Amino acid sequence: MAFMEWNEKLSTGIKEIDNQHKKLVEQINVLHSAMREGKAKEVLGKILDELKAYTKYHFSTEEKAFEKYNFLEKASHTKKHNDLIKQLDGIIDQYKAGSLTLSINLLDFLNKWISEHILKDDMKYAPVLRGKEIDV
Ligand SMILES: [Fe+2]
Ligand SMILES: [Fe+2]
Repeated sequence: MAFMEWNEKLSTGIKEIDNQHKKLVEQINVLHSAMREGKAKEVLGKILDELKAYTKYHFSTEEKAFEKYNFLEKASHTKKHNDLIKQLDGIIDQYKAGSLTLSINLLDFLNKWISEHILKDDMKYAPVLRGKEIDV
């Protein structure tokens, strides 16, 4: 069984967004497997970089749609995105500098952050953006 599972409860009903969320879940699982297999630091660092790049891409997809459709909570939602990117930057820097070891706690944190953000925050825009054209 995969470390993190995507399930229907996480569905926003917006295909492009759900596909990106599924891809994020997949990347967390890739990181988890690589960590468990004891892959080299260089490999893990690269996976973390990819996870961050994809997360940024996903956040920008949402933020472009907030702008396009004038989602009222765009400022507070965008702030949450920026906070996570900052946290990810810190984690990656520390990991590369050797002052942080990848652990199941870190994976749990990412899993929880993503799931809760989708359930509590992304679901707020779901009714507004459902059925609209989403530029990715
Ligand atoms: Fe999202
Ligand atoms: Fe979001």
